[in-house]
Amino acid sequence: MASVPLLIIYATVTGNAEDVAERVAREALRRHYTPTVMSAHAFLRALDTLPSWRAVVWVASTTGQGEAPPTLRALWRALLRRSLPPNLLAGQAAAVFGLGDSGYTHYNVVAKKLYRRLEGLGALMLGPAGLGDDRAAGGHEAALAPWLTDLWHRLRAQVPLTPGLTEAAPEDRYTRPTCKWTVEAAEAGSCHAAAQSAALAAHVAIAEMEDEAALASVPGAGEMWGVGQGATPPHAHDSPARPLTARVAATRRLTAPDHWQDVRHLELEVPGAEYEPGDVLSVLPRQDPAAVVAFIERCGAGLAPGTAVEVRRLAPGPETAGPTPRHLRLGDLVAGTLDVAAASPRRTFFEVLRDAAGSGLERERLEYLCSAEGLEDLATYNQLEGERGRTVLEVLQDFPSARPDLGWLLTAVPRLAPRAFSIASSPLAHPGAAHLTLAVVGWVTPFKRRRRGLCSAWLAGLRPGDELPAWTQRGALRLPPDPATPLVLVGPGTGVAPMRAFLQHREAQRRHGVPGVAPSLLFFGCRNVDKDCLYAEEWGRLRVGNILSLYSLAASRDQDHKIYVQDRIREAAAAVWEALDRGASVHVAGSADKMPADVASALEDVLVERGGLPPEEASRVLQRWQATGRYQVEAWS
Ligand SMILES: Cc1cc2nc3c(=O)[nH]c(=O)nc-3n(C[C@H](O)[C@H](O)[C@H](O)COP(=O)(O)OP(=O)(O)OC[C@H]3O[C@@H](n4cnc5c(N)ncnc54)[C@H](O)[C@@H]3O)c2cc1C
Ligand SMILES: Cc1cc2nc3c(=O)[nH]c(=O)nc-3n(C[C@H](O)[C@H](O)[C@H](O)COP(=O)(O)O)c2cc1C
Repeated sequence: MASVPLLIIYATVTGNAEDVAERVAREALRRHYTPTVMSAHAFLRALDTLPSWRAVVWVASTTGQGEAPPTLRALWRALLRRSLPPNLLAGQAAAVFGLGDSGYTHYNVVAKKLYRRLEGLGALMLGPAGLGDDRAAGGHEAALAPWLTDLWHRLRAQVPLTPGLTEAAPEDRYTRPTCKWTVEAAEAGSCHAAAQSAALAAHVAIAEMEDEAALASVPGAGEMWGVGQGATPPHAHDSPARPLTARVAATRRLTAPDHWQDVRHLELEVPGAEYEPGDVLSVLPRQDPAAVVAFIERCGAGLAPGTAVEVRRLAPGPETAGPTPRHLRLGDLVAGTLDVAAASPRRTFFEVLRDAAGSGLERERLEYLCSAEGLEDLATYNQLEGERGRTVLEVLQDFPSARPDLGWLLTAVPRLAPRAFSIASSPLAHPGAAHLTLAVVGWVTPFKRRRRGLCSAWLAGLRPGDELPAWTQRGALRLPPDPATPLVLVGPGTGVAPMRAFLQHREAQRRHGVPGVAPSLLFFGCRNVDKDCLYAEEWGRLRVGNILSLYSLAASRDQDHKIYVQDRIREAAAAVWEALDRGASVHVAGSADKMPADVASALEDVLVERGGLPPEEASRVLQRWQATGRYQVEAWS
């Protein structure tokens, strides 16, 4: 008997929203809805079908400084069109669940805005938006459970069950994950080309099959509302599907040898790259080959890393055909898609282990960890090693009897995600090259184990002549088109990378005879002037050449009280105000934690004290500048 279709659209950066979307879908199945799960990016091609759905659930995380994940941006722009009728979604039941972190100023702002916009387009909202919080005990799962209970209740009232269908049986306590993939040894035998480019190709192949499968389940997919119009036109090497081969030309340590943090300057040759100052270079991290082999030994059912496997994405519904299967090398599949060192795997992964556990004791323990009562214990178990948590491999070692097959693992192990790095050079100053300012992430767990960031440790280990696939993407920062516009640049730590690109660009423009290039103000922050003051000699030179009219250093630990960039901005209020009064644009980059909010508050103080604005007006001015691109922030954790 036909059941009611339910569309679930997710937008994610690190996979949490996708995991929640899958969970909603499984719960929906149990309640006799027919769910279709799509990423916001894939749904763009089916956007014209949106008004025809009776019920839609949106799951979206917030990133940057209150920004939508990149995969949601085009769809979001389309939804914001003024020309859309206010009753576009009339008759549609809609619900929103957000993923966020209450430590951020713009907590879950994407979900909140999405909720308001859907309401504005006439959708009937099913209760308030659910707000998942990374910081809650139990993480976002804590808000998810009650939100889901409420959702089914309200949905049932709005979209009654087809006669003949009954409510889910109460004893059906665990909704089993559904396997989305099969991975089997292919006829072709084995192959040996283990290279990072092959891992990236496997990564792209799996992502393409995901999109294809999602689209196949939406009949009549096709663009609407001219979504493509006005978007940045594609350029060469702008996606993992069109990578360039970057070659390491030089690498050197920027911080003092005895400084706790290793920050590197990396110079790459990037033939054919098209980028502008403010853009980022992205790479797929190379996983530790030993970890990849260990994973295959543990889970590969006796297959060797060189085995050619046929990877098949199972069709999402009985009426649709799955995408054409691909043949990949098992080692590349694992190295390019499964983040075997990922910390704190999500609940779905534990559910898959539970269902595959051979030992009764292990199954019982996993069953508890996957239950509503075990939520907090799962978080504690996951985080036993501190903030960073247990890795996928460590969890697998803890439950040796659990032997899910590779198809299940491809369904449940966190996907390996590319990493972005702000380009620290200008193509005008260094054609064919891209410089990076790379902080090697490292920490010691409470059990005294040394851990290093997957991507930054790999990049730091590269030597001149090494090659890696990479691609460039538009960043959140952009130089104003008129070189006569002064710049206020705030870039503590590696946040100085895009500022270096801007300043190189302005210097090169002046060298090329561009008239009226305005000088800039740079606020840089570090701990100690003689330890981690990045590119100090360059700032001195730019100051002499009046590319910089002000270089202000906040060395937080060189005196008995801490000094940060926001303090320096307040100290230099007169110069900052003068630049702003002349139309300066403001660009901020670096740590996503407290810094952007602290800098915004210092700028507001400047507008109040020097510009004479009332405080509430100062904050509105910054918001306006942010909306028009005069105030830009690129932040990362
Ligand atoms: C737009 C953008 C631009 C960026 N530009 C730059 C740049 O110019 N330079 C740069 O260096 N990076 C930049 N980054 C960050 C970069 O993309 C990576 O996130 C960073 O290099 C870490 O990746 P990783 O794989 O090394 O670490 P991962 O393996 O991903 O590990 C990082 C994780 O480790 C955890 N962790 C880190 N330190 C500790 C600790 N002390 N204790 C416990 N847990 C900890 C954190 O929770 C974090 O999730 C940028 C990011 C974005 C989004
Ligand atoms: C660089 C970065 C910026 C973030 N910015 C915000 C933010 O502005 N507001 C917020 O509520 N959460 C923010 N978060 C937290 C994420 O939304 C949260 O980790 C969420 O669970 C991620 O979900 P996802 O995996 O689906 O992307 C940020 C996280 C990162 C890594």
